[in-house]
Amino acid sequence: MTQSYFIAPSILSADFSRLGEEIARIENAGADWVHVDIMDGHFVPNMSMGRKALEACKQVTRLPLDVHLMVEAPENFIEWYAESGASHLTVHIEATPNIHRVLQRIRELGCEVGIALNPGTPACALDAVLQMVDLVLVMTVNPGFGAQTFIPETLPKIREIRQKLDRDNPQALIQVDGGISSKTIDQVIEAGAQVFVAGNAIFNHPAGPAAGMSALKAHFPV
Ligand code: DX5
Ligand code: ZN
Repeated sequence: MTQSYFIAPSILSADFSRLGEEIARIENAGADWVHVDIMDGHFVPNMSMGRKALEACKQVTRLPLDVHLMVEAPENFIEWYAESGASHLTVHIEATPNIHRVLQRIRELGCEVGIALNPGTPACALDAVLQMVDLVLVMTVNPGFGAQTFIPETLPKIREIRQKLDRDNPQALIQVDGGISSKTIDQVIEAGAQVFVAGNAIFNHPAGPAAGMSALKAHFPV
């Protein structure tokens, strides 16, 4: 049977001094993708990791590397991240006036094409490019930091985007990112999300990342 739900642990919450081991732990525990958050200190008020860190991840895992670019002018960086091992390359619609060209270029580079929206961006902003993407990342917190509180006002937007996708691009997945935990995952599943990014709920679970991931997966509909 085709798997319809995916967990993408965000290594932003991993122990960076043992990144290889942390990735091995989540891979052995059944993670589907590794979510890699790239921040530039401009698009978001934080900096995280860059190209070299992605290359290091590529060396230690066979899992798809799901790269979330929280950078201004992503057109200047997508080649880098494609060359450095991204399987999925997601850019923010708010980060460039040339979103159509950027999505086209990601496709040419051979990556899965993702588009992300901040909590303040409405679903209709996607209308002109909805058919170009494999993945819509709905931010369920304001981007920039791990361990923030889930914003429930994003739920109607997830529903609206799932309806639009069902009509125009039914294969595309909805990914949710920010504040996803055992307490919030049921709501985003019900709203229509299929891919769950989680940092804090996995890497800071009191019983370890494998337990954190199982706790989330226990909510998947059977
Ligand atoms: C936030 C990042 C997220 C973050 C999620 O800007 O895009 O991927 O790591 O972290 P949690 O699951 O801790 O909210
Ligand atoms: Zn992210």
